[in-house]
Amino acid sequence: MKLWSHPDAETLKLVEIVNKTKRNNFLEIGCYNFSMTINFILMSNQPNLVIANDKIDHSPETRALIDKYHSKMFHFVLGDSGEIETQNKIKGILKEKKLDILFIDGDHGRGHVESDTNNYADLVADDGYIIWHDTVHGAHKSFEPWFIEQLNKNILINLFFEGESRIGWIQGKEWRRYVSRK
Ligand SMILES: C[S@@+](CC[C@H](N)C(=O)[O-])C[C@H]1O[C@@H](n2cnc3c(N)ncnc32)[C@H](O)[C@@H]1O
Repeated sequence: MKLWSHPDAETLKLVEIVNKTKRNNFLEIGCYNFSMTINFILMSNQPNLVIANDKIDHSPETRALIDKYHSKMFHFVLGDSGEIETQNKIKGILKEKKLDILFIDGDHGRGHVESDTNNYADLVADDGYIIWHDTVHGAHKSFEPWFIEQLNKNILINLFFEGESRIGWIQGKEWRRYVSRK
């Protein structure tokens, strides 16, 4: 399956990571036109939550269509991921549930990737994963220093660089171990 901005090899890697989890609850920061969101919906187990956040409602027709067929699981949260209001809305949807997948693909500037990580990582289950997309060297020439490469000096981040694929991921409990050591 070929998705916008995701080469096949990367999509397969994402499927592999998702398959290591319970596949119940997903949060995508920066969902653009929902092409990855739809993938998460297809991969998810029932009962589930697929929360898609973006600061812009890029594709209202697609959103309405997903909502029509998946209204129980699908939640679109419009707002800047850095805003407390957005964070509270997402926490309100999750209630006590933990995320199996946190997919960080919003603003790719270092400060934003870092704040998205810090603001949402606590919501990830111990056996869930934080996945960063395109936040590594070569993804966008204008963003330096590279958050993942900086992080990788202190903690082992799994990386998949192949062709145009640039993703990094870490399990929730590994992330917390790293944060508690800082
Ligand atoms: C690369 S696209 C996401 C692609 C999508 N995740 C996918 O896999 O198909 C990045 C998206 O992040 C959104 N974005 C940028 N800054 C954001 C922010 N601060 N909060 C929420 N969304 C943001 C943009 O509007 C854009 O739709």
